[in-house]
Amino acid sequence: MHQEAPVTIRHYRPEDLEVLRQITVDSFGSVALDQMMQDRLGVWNGRDWRARKADHINDDCLANAEGCFVAEREGVILGYITTRLDRLNLIGRIPNLAVEEKARGLGLGRRLIHHALDYFRQSGMKVAKIETMASNVVGQNLYPSCGFEEVGRQVHFAMRL
Ligand SMILES: CC(C)(COP(=O)(O)OP(=O)(O)OC[C@H]1O[C@@H](n2cnc3c(N)ncnc32)[C@H](O)[C@@H]1OP(=O)(O)O)[C@@H](O)C(=O)NCCC(=O)NCCS
Repeated sequence: MHQEAPVTIRHYRPEDLEVLRQITVDSFGSVALDQMMQDRLGVWNGRDWRARKADHINDDCLANAEGCFVAEREGVILGYITTRLDRLNLIGRIPNLAVEEKARGLGLGRRLIHHALDYFRQSGMKVAKIETMASNVVGQNLYPSCGFEEVGRQVHFAMRL
């Protein structure tokens, strides 16, 4: 019987960036705030939600490359997680997390979160933080099941100028 090779989690490398950007724009349709803004306000400045959302990953990788991790099977990246450290207040934050559609439901999202939580602990963080849109059903199940508790809800407003 053919067994699939195991998925490993490793540190992000700069040459991963294009793949991470692609997974991001493929994954975040309908759950991204940037797309919701575009649905309401249209496109401005010639840059659609995909361009903005993908740029968030560049920001994450630039801000804290050592805290970005990818899930990989036989050299193929299936998902990633990005993190930031607030070393003054000892809060670790997870800004972005995505798993390719074909690799979902296998526990990779959960593994990536636990990997990030271990990294936070090793870095001396005392609190971990993650946000999700109220419309993101997966996040609202996954995060509490990883140990997070809901502490508040935020409403996003935007307008054309
Ligand atoms: C969120 C995401 C990363 C989860 O990845 P995944 O590898 O499929 O997640 P897992 O297999 O580890 O699933 C973990 C849990 O998520 C929840 N979950 C997964 N799919 C779900 C679904 N379709 N509906 C409801 N809950 C779901 C369950 O609680 C599941 O736990 P269980 O299998 O014990 O029931 C993935 O769905 C994704 O990339 N979504 C688009 C991008 C996104 O929403 N990112 C997070 C916002 S920052």
